[in-house]
Amino acid sequence: MKMKIRNKAAFTDEVTPLEEENARVSYEAALEGIVLLENDGILPITPGKVALYGAGAGMTIKGGTGSGEVNERHAVSILEGMESAGFTVTTKNWLKGYEEEYRKGEEEYAAEFRRRMLKFDIVNMMGTPYQHPFGQPVTIEDVNGSDTDTCIYVIARQAGESADRKLKNFEYSLSDEEKANLAMCAANYEKMIVVINVGSVFDMGFLDEITGIGAVVYYAQQGMMGGKAFADLISGKVSPSGKTADTWPKKYEDIPFAMDYSYLNGDVDQEYYREGIYVGYRYFDSYDVEPRYPFGYGLSYTGFSVETEKVEADGTKVAVTAKVTNTGSVYSGKEVVQLYVTCPQTGMAKEYQKLAAFAKTEEIKPGESKEVSLAFDMADLASYREKDAAYVLEKGDYILRPGTSSRDTSAAAVLVLDEDVVTEQCENICPVVLKVKEIEPPMLSDTADEQDTDLERIPVKAADIATAGHRYEDPEIYSDPVVDAVLDVLSDDELCDVVTGAGVTGGGPKFFEAPGSAGYTTGELIDKGLPNVCLADGPAGLRLQKISAVMHNGRLKSVEPMLSAMKYVPDLAKKFILGDPQKRPCVYQFATSFPAGLALAQSWNTALVERVGEAVGKEMERYGVTYWLAPGMNIHRNPLCGRNFEYYSEDPLLTGKMAAAMSRGVQSRRGCYVTVKHFCCNNQEDNRNHTNANVNERALREIYLRGFRIAVQEGHAKALMTSYNKVNGAYANNSYDLLTKVLRNEWGFDGVVMTDWFATGKDVGSHSAAIEAGNDLIMPGGKGAVRELRQKLKSGELDRTALIKCAANVIRGITGSRIYQAYRRMYTEKQSE
Ligand code: BGC
Repeated sequence: MKMKIRNKAAFTDEVTPLEEENARVSYEAALEGIVLLENDGILPITPGKVALYGAGAGMTIKGGTGSGEVNERHAVSILEGMESAGFTVTTKNWLKGYEEEYRKGEEEYAAEFRRRMLKFDIVNMMGTPYQHPFGQPVTIEDVNGSDTDTCIYVIARQAGESADRKLKNFEYSLSDEEKANLAMCAANYEKMIVVINVGSVFDMGFLDEITGIGAVVYYAQQGMMGGKAFADLISGKVSPSGKTADTWPKKYEDIPFAMDYSYLNGDVDQEYYREGIYVGYRYFDSYDVEPRYPFGYGLSYTGFSVETEKVEADGTKVAVTAKVTNTGSVYSGKEVVQLYVTCPQTGMAKEYQKLAAFAKTEEIKPGESKEVSLAFDMADLASYREKDAAYVLEKGDYILRPGTSSRDTSAAAVLVLDEDVVTEQCENICPVVLKVKEIEPPMLSDTADEQDTDLERIPVKAADIATAGHRYEDPEIYSDPVVDAVLDVLSDDELCDVVTGAGVTGGGPKFFEAPGSAGYTTGELIDKGLPNVCLADGPAGLRLQKISAVMHNGRLKSVEPMLSAMKYVPDLAKKFILGDPQKRPCVYQFATSFPAGLALAQSWNTALVERVGEAVGKEMERYGVTYWLAPGMNIHRNPLCGRNFEYYSEDPLLTGKMAAAMSRGVQSRRGCYVTVKHFCCNNQEDNRNHTNANVNERALREIYLRGFRIAVQEGHAKALMTSYNKVNGAYANNSYDLLTKVLRNEWGFDGVVMTDWFATGKDVGSHSAAIEAGNDLIMPGGKGAVRELRQKLKSGELDRTALIKCAANVIRGITGSRIYQAYRRMYTEKQSE
C-alpha cells in the first residue's frame, strides 16, 4: 500500500476560534505568574504618560531559546501591552535607539556565529544565544523629554539549553551600564519601577546600592500575552497574585557550594551534590541564612489574613482548613496558602521545614473571606534512610505551619507520632561511585517554642500506618489484542525499527507528519500495521513549523527559522533550508506560546495549569501531535542552570504538582500524551551530555525524583524522557535502577520512556543498554541505531525479551493515538478495496 504523507496544517492563515481561546488561557496564566517583589505604594499606576526604558521594554523576552521555543503568530511586548492599555510611552526615541543597537549587535553576533559554523562548533553555537545589549545611556535629555514622573525600566536576559548562565557576562546580575541607567532614572523620576524579564532568579543586590526604586516586578518569561498581562497588573485592573517558586538569595554566594556549580570550579565533568537535601529554602531556613525574597513570596495590592479553622487527621490523611480574608478595602485579589511541616528534629538530620500542601484561593473581594483546604498524606513527609533502604516517619512532633511564604507562617497544630514507622520498603538504587561528602547537618534546636504554646496536639498511631512494599522484577511484556496483533507480525529486525525513531530529519516513509515536530517514530512499518506518530517540543507550547511552503515533491519546508539560532546561518544555507512563500503555496500551524514553566509555577494555581495543559492538548489534537515533549521538571538546584526557565521550582512538591496538573490537562484529550523530562538530575547544561551528577541516595529520592513520582502517580504521565547526564557514573538512559526499579517497580509507570535527542550512541549511553534498562525508544533514532541494535540482537548482546518489552510499550502508545484511529480507518478501507 502506497500512501502520501498526510498532515493537518491549515490552508489559510485566518485566526481560528481555538487560537483565540488559547490566547485567553495564555493571558490568564501570565496574569497569575508575574510576581510583585517590591512596592512602596507606587503601584498600581493609572494609565497616562510613562517613560519606558531597558532591553526588555520593546524586545520583551517571552521564553528561552532552544527546543523550548514556540513559534506563535505574534507575541505582545511590554511596550505594546502598555500602549494598548492606554499608556502613552514618551521615550520612543530611546527605544528606537535601543532597537538599532539590538540589530547592530545581532549582525555582529551573526557574523561570529557563521565563523563558528565553519569550525563545526555547532553545540556551543546553540548554547550561546544572542543576548540583548545592555542599552545606551539614559541621559538627562531623555528624562526631560519624557515629560512624566513615572519610569519603568525592563532588564532582560536570555538563556537556553546546552549552556549555563555565566556570572562574568552579567547573565545573573546587572552590568555597570544598567546600574548607571537605573541610578539616573531613580534619581530623576518620582515613581521608579524595575521589571526583571529573566527566566531565573536574578541578583537584586542593586537594590542596596541604588535608592529611589519604588517597585520591582518579576516578569520572568510570560509567553505571547505577557505584555498585556503586565499592563493590566500595573494599572490595577487585576491585583498580582504570583509567588516566587524559588528562594532569591541576597547574594549568589549565599547558595550552598555556589562556586562549585557547573563551570565555576573548572570541572564540568563531575558535579557533587554536597548540599544533599538542603536545596533552596530547605537550606536557607535550616541554616538561618536570610534570603532577599523567600520561597512562596509575592505582594498583592490588597492584604490578606489567614486563619486556621480546622485540622483533621484520619490515619495518615491530614487536612487543614484555612479561612482567608481580604483585609483591604479597594482591591480584590487571590492569595496562596502554603502549608509547611517541621518534622521531628531527632534521628535523621532534617530540614527545618518542607512544603506539604498549598492552595490558591479564588478571587476574594475586599472584606470578604474564602475557605481553602490543604490536604496531604503524612507518608509523603517520610525521609529516606539509606541504611535500611526505606522511607521512614520518625516518632515525635510534626508541626503544621500554614502561611503565605516559607518565612511567613505560624504554627497551627502538632501531629504527634508515637513510634518510628517504615512507610515504604525499597531497594537501594544508583550507588555512589565517587564519594559525596555532604554539608554538616544544621544545628536545629528541638522546636520547643511551639511546644510551649497551647497548640492542638493530635495523636497519630504508627500502628495505623501501612508499609508499602515493592516487587523488584522485570516487568511483564505489555499485552492487549491490538498490540499483540502488531507484535505478532514483526520480525526481529523490525522490532529494532519500532524502538528507534525515524532519524534526525525524520526522513523516510511517513504516514503522517506535523511539520516542525522534533521527531517521529518509525515509518518503516506502515504496511505492517504500524503508522508513525509525531513528537513535538514544549514546554511553553507546541514547537511546530508556523508556515510551511508546499514544495513540488509534496515536502513541506518551513518558511521561517524554527529555532532562533537558525536565523544566523548564512543566507545561502537559509535559501536551501527554507521555503519561499512567494513561490510556493503555504500551509499553517499557529501554536500558542504560554508562560514558561517557571512562570506557570509562580501562579501556584494547579487548576490554571491544568487548563494550560488542556489548551495544549487541543492544539495537539488539531495538528496531530501524539507526544508533547514536556513538561520540563528538573529541580532548580542553582539559579545559573541555563534551562531553569523551562522547569518549575526548587521544591519537588510544587514541581510535581505542576507537572501532574499539566499532564492531566494534556491527557484529558484522548490520544495526547505528555513526556515529563529530563529524568533525572539534568541540573547543569554545560557539558550536559557527559556530566556526572554525584548524589547520595537520600537527596536523589527526596529532592530529584520526588517531583517525577508525583507526575507519574498523580498525573499519570504517559511518557518520560531520560536525561543526557550520568547519575553516579551511569548514563540515566542506561540505568536499570532508575528506569525499571524506581519508575516501573516502585511507581507503577506504564508508559513510554524515550531518550533525549542523541543521548545514546558513540561516547554516550549505549543504545542496547538503554533498551535493557527499560528505555523504550531511542530518539531521534535513525538507521545507525537500528543497525547496531539488529547486530547486537543477532550476536546475543541485546536481550530479545527486553527488546520486545520496549517495542510493546512503544506500540501501545502508537495504537492509543488518534493517528492510529485514522490509519486503521484507511488501512481497513484499502484492504477491502
Ligand atoms: C532537549 C530536549 C528536547 C529535544 C528535542 C533536546 O536537545 O534537551 O528537551 O525535547 O532536544 O528537541
